[in-house]
Amino acid sequence: MKVGDTAYRSIWYDEAAREVRIIDQRWLPHEFRVVALKTTEDFAKAIREMWVRGAPLIGATAAYGMAEAMARDPSNASLDATWDILHATRPTAINLRWALDAMRGLLTPLPESDRAAAAFRKAAAICDEDVEINRMIGVHGLQIIRDIAARKPDGDPVRILTHCNAGWLATVDWGTATSPLYQAHDAGVPVHVFVDETRPRNQGAHLTAWELAGHGVPHDLIVDNAGGHLMQHGLVDLVITGTDRTTAAGDVCNKIGTYLKALAAQDNGVPFYVALPSPTIDWTVRDGLAEIPIEERAPREVTHIQGKLADGRTADVQISPDATPARNPAFDVTPARLVAGLITERGVAAASAEALRSLFPDRAA
Ligand code: MRU
Repeated sequence: MKVGDTAYRSIWYDEAAREVRIIDQRWLPHEFRVVALKTTEDFAKAIREMWVRGAPLIGATAAYGMAEAMARDPSNASLDATWDILHATRPTAINLRWALDAMRGLLTPLPESDRAAAAFRKAAAICDEDVEINRMIGVHGLQIIRDIAARKPDGDPVRILTHCNAGWLATVDWGTATSPLYQAHDAGVPVHVFVDETRPRNQGAHLTAWELAGHGVPHDLIVDNAGGHLMQHGLVDLVITGTDRTTAAGDVCNKIGTYLKALAAQDNGVPFYVALPSPTIDWTVRDGLAEIPIEERAPREVTHIQGKLADGRTADVQISPDATPARNPAFDVTPARLVAGLITERGVAAASAEALRSLFPDRAA
């Protein structure tokens, strides 16, 4: 997507400099910084400390981390050590393991001399595949938005609530939940987006709002607690969120607070959809609540908040008493029964084992 007049992806290989570059998302929306990642520790730190975040982008970053490691040392020991280091960075998004396994599966049978070139090709292919998956999620999600628009008075916007950032910054491009929004807006279907701020890290306020503003999509930032009220008053037509891991039975693990939005949507008859790229399905897990590891992040993310000071600098301020402890579970699980549908690159599936299996018979096996 464009930043000003320049088209960006969230990660790319700069051919001239021969280095992987990312947008360092910690500084958005107030500062746009691009940084290069070189060593395995650079890649691990970027994922762990959320310079990059969002399930698909975490996977893409890990793939390039593996490629850079192969360029330095293509041995089996290096392959395994890099897999371990990168896999340990964040526990919940399954795209991380998916990408690392795809890289190791391709590289292991190759002679060491071929591994670096093959790894860079594969990392680039994972990125391109992600862009195409998200474009197709947009195509299928657009139809849902068109159907709702057709039932509204001409020109009335379809009002869509989204949580966290499942935008182009969370993927390589387009985003998952935002791809239908961008495609509707581009096709002239009026949409209005309610953006949950998404405490504690405010990915909605910092990233989704910045993205939507950059693309000219009408939106309002809302506090996380406002969604239920808006739904009760008939002000939300549709919810679309992303997912970090979806089980084979259709349970959706996503940013903390997603479950509460799904409950409110259910109580108010608002369809709750999840945009689901197929690499985010964990075919090995059936019971999301019991089996998905939920990341616990630092209490500081709860006790402090980041924003722009009057002098323009980005800074953290403390919002709670010095002695108050905090808990910070970063994800929750929305049971399949609360999900109206899963918008995948192959079409919209019911959130059930049967529907997912019939859409992806090749993967489910
Ligand atoms: O902790 P984050 O910012 O990595 O969490 C991101 C989310 O929860 C997104 O909604 C999810 O990755 C889906 S994004 C395509």
